[in-house]
Amino acid sequence: MVEHISPAQSLSGNVVLPGDKSISHRYAMLASLAEGTSKIRNYSTGADCQSTLGCMRALGIEIDAGEEVAIHGKGLDGLSEPAAMLDAGNSGSTIRMLSGILAAQPFVSRIGGDESLSRRPMQRIMTPLAEMGARIEARDGKYPPLTINGGPLHAIDYTLPMASAQVKTCVLFAGLFAPGRTSVVEPMRTRDHSELALREFGVEVSSSGGTISVEGRAHLKPLDFYVPGDLSSAAFFLVAAQMVNESDVTILGVGLNPTRSSLLDFLVGMGVNIKILDVQQANGELIGSLRVRKSRVRGGRIEGALAAALIDEIPVLAVLGAKSEEGLSVHDASELRIKETDRIASIEENFRRMGVNIETRTDGFDVPGRQKFHAAELSSFGDHRIAMAFAVAALAADGPCSIQDAEAASVSFPDFFDTLQRIAV
Ligand code: S3P
Repeated sequence: MVEHISPAQSLSGNVVLPGDKSISHRYAMLASLAEGTSKIRNYSTGADCQSTLGCMRALGIEIDAGEEVAIHGKGLDGLSEPAAMLDAGNSGSTIRMLSGILAAQPFVSRIGGDESLSRRPMQRIMTPLAEMGARIEARDGKYPPLTINGGPLHAIDYTLPMASAQVKTCVLFAGLFAPGRTSVVEPMRTRDHSELALREFGVEVSSSGGTISVEGRAHLKPLDFYVPGDLSSAAFFLVAAQMVNESDVTILGVGLNPTRSSLLDFLVGMGVNIKILDVQQANGELIGSLRVRKSRVRGGRIEGALAAALIDEIPVLAVLGAKSEEGLSVHDASELRIKETDRIASIEENFRRMGVNIETRTDGFDVPGRQKFHAAELSSFGDHRIAMAFAVAALAADGPCSIQDAEAASVSFPDFFDTLQRIAV
């Protein structure tokens, strides 16, 4: 599908986002392991989170998905052998986090996904799961599909070689099945939705000084959940409001978990005017609304722990960098190369088509500020965050732009283009 985006004069109004993708995956998997029915409101409508529901159904879990999602959990030992290969679609979170659960099952399962997922590295989960006692085979030893020969697992202490919340979660979920205490040491802090969700389900989790531990063989209690709006989706509107001359947008009910909200600190540091309103809590997660106005945006530098914390938002921040006064410099972000696409290459190619300068490195790039965006035929390259980042760039172009394979946005935000068009004048 080709989406056409015209330049905008201003953006105004309220925006409602889909439920947070990271949190939705975790609630769906853990609710399946709980003893009884959990209800989840505002579950992500994105295709990735629907893939997780599909996998849990294929593992014998009954799920009613309407306004809210009701998951009839069967306890830690209630999953049944799937009849066919589990389909994680485009979702790295589904395959990596669910593998931790599959590794403990008394049956063999196969899990794979689309072409993009089939190119994403899986050794990062295979190594700790093998240490816990699982036998996993992968295409060429490292890529999906995976064949997981599950069985009894033992608890481990595992030091993550990279900052990855997906890998941390995979090990903690596997640890649920292993008698004793499983610990993960993080090189830097990553999103802690799994820790918060596990506690909500009644599992003992401790977290101190970069070590997170879970007690195995717990009984998970079903519960009613509310998923906050996705802050990574909010990023597109926070930046969009800076691309046009006059903007005043309020994004309602967004997740403000401190392990994700360095995005807001970073934007405010660049000069973006953001006000946080109506802060509340649900299931241990912070939620608030964000009022953003067009501001004078200086420039910024992303490196070290900040690169890990902003990894999903860097594509749209690159767009902001080119429009800012001093530009954006990104370092220590080589993980961008192994996301749904090589995001550094995708950003570079779309910028080239728009006549925007960028200098790339293996682990990042430099984008000078105050650049002109020319009308161009752009592509998502099949990556949701590239589709949405360049729709935002197109708002500031000197003529209408088109985005090829724009349907990729539906992986996390099916209504993205309608929402953008509704607030644009
Ligand atoms: C996620 C963790 C991050 C992020 C992804 C979602 C999660 O991936 O990029 O979109 O929900 O845990 P990594 O764990 O690979 O850094």
